[in-house]
Amino acid sequence: MDESVVDVGLENIKGVGPKTREKLVEGGIDSTLGLAVALPSEVKGILGGEEEKASKLILYARQHLEKQGLLEKEFITAREVFQKRKAMKRITTGSQNLDNLLLGGVETQGITEFFGDYGSGKTQICHTLCITCQLPPEQGGLGGGAIYIDTEGTFRPERLFQIAEAKELDPEEVLEKILLCKVYNSSHLELVIRGLSKFVEKYNAKLVIVDSVISLHRAEFIGRGTLANRQQRLNNLIHKLLRLAEIYNIAVVVTNQVQSKPDTFFGDPTRPAGGNVIAHACTYRIYLKKSGQYRSATIVDSPCHPYSTTRFQITENGIEDIST
Ligand SMILES: Nc1ncnc2c1ncn2[C@@H]1O[C@H](COP(=O)(O)OP(=O)(O)OP(=O)(O)O)[C@@H](O)[C@H]1O
Ligand SMILES: [Mg+2]
Repeated sequence: MDESVVDVGLENIKGVGPKTREKLVEGGIDSTLGLAVALPSEVKGILGGEEEKASKLILYARQHLEKQGLLEKEFITAREVFQKRKAMKRITTGSQNLDNLLLGGVETQGITEFFGDYGSGKTQICHTLCITCQLPPEQGGLGGGAIYIDTEGTFRPERLFQIAEAKELDPEEVLEKILLCKVYNSSHLELVIRGLSKFVEKYNAKLVIVDSVISLHRAEFIGRGTLANRQQRLNNLIHKLLRLAEIYNIAVVVTNQVQSKPDTFFGDPTRPAGGNVIAHACTYRIYLKKSGQYRSATIVDSPCHPYSTTRFQITENGIEDIST
């Protein structure tokens, strides 16, 4: 990522002098928003000193953003909520059926999770969305770029090229608007997400993808004793993504693996990994499964969507409806 982009907003925050700012930036908190969504323990870890001082800085950052209308006030009227919901937009997946399942496509202001087994199509959906989000609104896009955080090394620009061509877009131009960040371990992922807001602004990104969201934490935190710590860090990470989605009115898409639950006697014994932490923060959870040469998608645990299933296919053009 481009290291020269640093949000200069931090020095406007009460209590943040040049030295403190420098330390925060070094620690990965390089914007006012980054500070506003940080945890006191994180800030304390970077600055040293008392946690109380860290909490105050976070509070000042929040107040600053609230004044600028960038952060939600603690109490807002239902009308304001309604207005905000009306500003919500959707990105087409390329399949009308999958869009219908999502009531029109992948929503901004929330997190959509695609989970499923190996080869179920999670990464293919992510690649397709990087292209479709660049389409003009009348074609189901948001006319903006995408940020792709790849934890698995499966990002393929050639595939993006292919899908862009199929959608009759200029592939070179399209690739220019997709920012890739390769992430190697869980701390790196946390750091990247902490500093994400300035890239969203600079690249006018309308979509942030994390493929996949918990595999690194899952691999690194092994054993029961480390579970609470892992869940807390995941909770922190996923809520930062949610805040980002709300503040910038962008879509966040995460992928997740399945975890086998051998004690399930009825229905499908698989669940997305990550437990309640991920479940509570995601607005939509879509379970993907191979179904012959096609894929099935089922919406689970949604507050306002009925339980339903649909099918789609993966082709050279990306994600598509099954041709009849
Ligand atoms: N160009 C293409 N044309 C048709 N099908 C393709 C193409 N590229 C990939 N696929 C299909 O997509 C599948 C891989 O899906 P994908 O990589 O999205 O899985 P995943 O859910 O991300 O799996 P994992 O858990 O391993 O990351 C392939 O097995 C293939 O069936
Ligand atoms: Mg994948």
